[in-house]
Amino acid sequence: MRNFSLSFILLFLLISFSLSAQSGRTPAPARKGMVVSSHYLASQVGQQILADGGNAVDAAIGTAFALAVTLPSAGNIGGGGFLVYHGAEGKVTSFNFREKAPLAATADMYLDENGNIRDNTNHDGPLSVGVPGTVAGLWLAHQRLGSKPWPELVQPAIELAEQGFPSTWAMQGILRFYQQVEGPEYEAAKKAFLKKGTGLYEPGELWKQPDLAATLKRIQRDGRDGFYKGETARLIADFMRKHGGIITEKDLEKYEAAEQEPIHGAYRGYDIYAMAPPSSGGVALVEMLNILEGFNLKEAGHNSALYLHLLTEAMRRAYADRAQYLGDPLFNPDMPVEQLISKDHAETLRNTIGLFMASPSDSSRFNQALMVAESEETTHFSVVDQEGNAVSLTYTLEYGYGSRLVVEGAGFLLNNEMGDFNPVPGVTNTRGQIGTKPNLVAPEKRMLSSMTPTIVARGGKPVLVIGSPGGRTIINTVLQVVLNVIDHGMNIGQAIEAGRIHHQWLPDVTSFEEFSISPDTRRLYEMMGHRVRFRGEQGSAMGIFIDQEKGLIYGTADSRDFDGRAVGN
Ligand code: DON
Repeated sequence: MRNFSLSFILLFLLISFSLSAQSGRTPAPARKGMVVSSHYLASQVGQQILADGGNAVDAAIGTAFALAVTLPSAGNIGGGGFLVYHGAEGKVTSFNFREKAPLAATADMYLDENGNIRDNTNHDGPLSVGVPGTVAGLWLAHQRLGSKPWPELVQPAIELAEQGFPSTWAMQGILRFYQQVEGPEYEAAKKAFLKKGTGLYEPGELWKQPDLAATLKRIQRDGRDGFYKGETARLIADFMRKHGGIITEKDLEKYEAAEQEPIHGAYRGYDIYAMAPPSSGGVALVEMLNILEGFNLKEAGHNSALYLHLLTEAMRRAYADRAQYLGDPLFNPDMPVEQLISKDHAETLRNTIGLFMASPSDSSRFNQALMVAESEETTHFSVVDQEGNAVSLTYTLEYGYGSRLVVEGAGFLLNNEMGDFNPVPGVTNTRGQIGTKPNLVAPEKRMLSSMTPTIVARGGKPVLVIGSPGGRTIINTVLQVVLNVIDHGMNIGQAIEAGRIHHQWLPDVTSFEEFSISPDTRRLYEMMGHRVRFRGEQGSAMGIFIDQEKGLIYGTADSRDFDGRAVGN
């Protein structure tokens, strides 16, 4: 058995390296399809589905299930996300499989008797878990757009879970966490992640997940119902009851993913398609592009002080709107989405930007203050098939490894997405709480997200497929890659590797990746009134550029990522 597993891995590695495979600054070229994800084995699974005649949606489903095995920090079946689709013939749609609050959830569920936040239970433990959406979303996308039989798409993930794959450096942190953490709720996680429940897997050692394989087999056999009904649903609900959570069989049975219209914008002759609420990504991205369209960014020059100033001012304004207006549309029927993405609104905002002077982030605008710090674990992947159909998919457990709780007997991690709701109604303060109405907890409501899977098209055909992890920085990461390609003429590798900034209205400070700004540019930028701080890497974009004229596809996996790879053929 062990020999078989090893030869399976060797075969995988061999195939990976014999194909066009890459991560970093030089894009990998391909003619017949490409998958770019945060784990080389998952990219390989998707590419093989394409090579076997599957379409982009088939490959995305296979890749998503494979990532649920090989990238447990963010790949998942216990979380949720968004898929944007652009067909070669012009069909555009999106799938919303964001988690929902459980039926028993209430707006004050995280408060003590004085109305203050009680503890960290919105981010930690069983109460932080939203009703997972991933399996329902992949199932719905398959029903609408898939071409290969569902069981074939789940099979590679089952093999990876059953036969194992080499544990990577990226997992060392969580393994140490599980070695140290105590408590009955972590027993299943220790069993899943540690060697014999206690030992550390070294990088390169084979890691198998038999309980996860069994769950995937139920999903393979019964589709959506293999997760939301029967054995898997019972295991989730039992786990919740045992450890003080509130998700029940009824929550799971009622969960539905939704197909919905993406946000559509136009920028310098390109069409921009991205996720509509409950993601804030599409609205904020299009709003920023609309503002910036009125400036000659190419002439300003990439990452010049003037360019950085204009980006910052666009970000400041779009993130203020995001905080004020956006939430789950089913609970906020009056959200002014069309207004926010209109050219008129952009013009009004643009007229408030001084060319050489930072404007203040006016927090009195609606009694609002600092943003809550957010984790940056999530994962994005991009797929293009031989026909030129494209899928852009971002999904998450919220924090890295989500709640870090594994469902006993089912072998998968649960999200802690409830932390994306505003926890204290009406209370917004300088310590970082935000309590605006559109994103308060309510039963079956979806929490606001920043995930921004995006497809840029020209003449009705996709040309750029892009997205990133990074919490609230996601939208700005996607913005900068899009600008790098359209305004600065970079290839996809250069566009992804270039240094990035992030401003989110409040706090009024711009974060730069280390070494991404020269001292003299920084001085000029600060002279305009901006504040600078440095951080580590921002996001991890996975992108594909399609050269429609040459019939070539170029993919780049961000080198900020541990194990990402672009694999094409
Ligand atoms: O949906 C959201 O916006 C967040 N839950 C995503 C979390 C995230 O991106 C963390 N890391 N990369």
